[in-house]
Amino acid sequence: MSNKLIIANWKDYLDHNGIKNFPFHQINGQHLIIAPATSYLGLIRAKFPHLSLAAQDISAVSPNLGAFTGEITAENLKNLGIGYVMIGHSERRILCNENNELIKAKLNNAIKYNITPIICVGENYLERQNNQYKDVISRQLDSLDIAHIKQNIIIAYEPVWSIGSGEAASMSQIEEIMIHIKSSLRIAGNLILVYGGSVNAQNISEISHIESLDGVLVGKASTDFEQLRLIENIVRQI
Ligand code: PGA
Repeated sequence: MSNKLIIANWKDYLDHNGIKNFPFHQINGQHLIIAPATSYLGLIRAKFPHLSLAAQDISAVSPNLGAFTGEITAENLKNLGIGYVMIGHSERRILCNENNELIKAKLNNAIKYNITPIICVGENYLERQNNQYKDVISRQLDSLDIAHIKQNIIIAYEPVWSIGSGEAASMSQIEEIMIHIKSSLRIAGNLILVYGGSVNAQNISEISHIESLDGVLVGKASTDFEQLRLIENIVRQI
């Protein structure tokens, strides 16, 4: 039975009713991390204490600055029992102009409070076409310093062209990037590497068979309970 990780990135897909009606109690939950919208983290945590949860964002502001209206602080997440946080998702890099400096500050805050970061990297369509994808990923990985790498971190390879497009990266494309990430960071040991981008119940079997991969990050498909259950079952059988 495989221990491969499944990270369910729910983005803002489920509204209050969707969350209330989701059959969480029917989820096995082992090696599964659910990242619901921040507004629902408390609700889910209170009702289902056994589930591993990730926040979709965390404050970049130094906790030493004191009170700061509107921020999702690492301390609050920790107190709520949130063990993981997604940092640097392409939607945030692109739409919120998140750069390496900001991402590094978020990483520092997460690590200070022992929240495991899930750092997302990946090239866009043009960058792949122009054969720049490895350089792009290397530059994104520059936000990590040695102190981060020594911690428990999860790196998600999520090519922008594959997110929400229905076109997952091929096995050889994923394998190539896994090797690239490991050689860029010059460590192989405790790094957890996952792939995300149009993962669904149809392609999960093939993707999960990639040996260098420790898991998957599933967006849209994971918001559908039947698909999530199928994905969990298929991954566990590998
Ligand atoms: P998708 O999203 O599975 O819907 O392509 C993945 C992601 O953005 O994390």
